[in-house]
Amino acid sequence: MTTTPTVPRTTAVAARATELSKVYGQGETQVIALDRVSVDFRQGEFTAIMGPSGSGKSTLMHCVAGLDSFSSGSVRIGETELSTLKDKQLTQLRRDKIGFIFQAFNLLPTLTALENITLPMDIAGRKPDQAWVQKVIDMLGLSGRLKHRPTELSGGQQQRVAVARALASQPEIIFGDEPTGNLDSRSGAEVLGFLRNSVRELGQTVVMVTHDPAAASYADRVIFLADGRIVDEMLRPSADGVLDRMKAFDAKGRTS
Ligand SMILES: Nc1ncnc2c1ncn2[C@@H]1O[C@H](COP(=O)(O)OP(=O)(O)OP(=O)(O)O)[C@@H](O)[C@H]1O
Ligand SMILES: [Mg+2]
Repeated sequence: MTTTPTVPRTTAVAARATELSKVYGQGETQVIALDRVSVDFRQGEFTAIMGPSGSGKSTLMHCVAGLDSFSSGSVRIGETELSTLKDKQLTQLRRDKIGFIFQAFNLLPTLTALENITLPMDIAGRKPDQAWVQKVIDMLGLSGRLKHRPTELSGGQQQRVAVARALASQPEIIFGDEPTGNLDSRSGAEVLGFLRNSVRELGQTVVMVTHDPAAASYADRVIFLADGRIVDEMLRPSADGVLDRMKAFDAKGRTS
């Protein structure tokens, strides 16, 4: 590629899948959800995963994040091979190295915003880095809402709390499955802007599944999945460019 990335590319890899396959069921009902997928997620890079419904986006994310087992191939987070870990070690790795932003924010209703943000570290018995947590809170514009409970926050604010919670423990990598899917376009744009800033300013690594070309345009690159395989990649995507690429896939799908 001849493009010059705006982000300095380091060679360090936050997560890597090699020849990763995931097969559900057997015989006639067999589904190959992932078909020998190899992909790197570099440190300090924001990647969007796109593709039609059923193409394997969530499966890829869940396998790389250690939330789901895989049939063959390998996954590593940082220097750690997931297949070498026992269940308890895997749980620990997820807790210590990975941040998650789900579509349903999974905030606990009885806790304040601040308590929700530091909950994973409290569970792990780790002391939050106060300066860092403050920086994240400021960046997300949540300083005035820390004592509020989730029901007292708008949807966009709740989502930002979920983003803050994912960032607070400085995980090696953050995974989001349609993290802005439930938000109106303005709140969605806010959250995406914060994720992008966390990559630019804090060096965070982010991987996000999305159907929305506008959301994907916040990423440094987009990988496109179809039938469990990576079929294309785009660097420094624009919303229009992504939309055109999706249309091209649709046209191909209809003629083949
Ligand atoms: N538990 C399961 N058992 C059997 N097949 C499954 C299971 N989970 C997913 N699949 C199949 O694996 C394929 C990939 O599913 P996946 O959820 O990864 O798709 P996706 O790209 O995330 O789709 P969407 O955009 O609709 O969320 C699909 O064909 C799906 O039907
Ligand atoms: Mg999915």
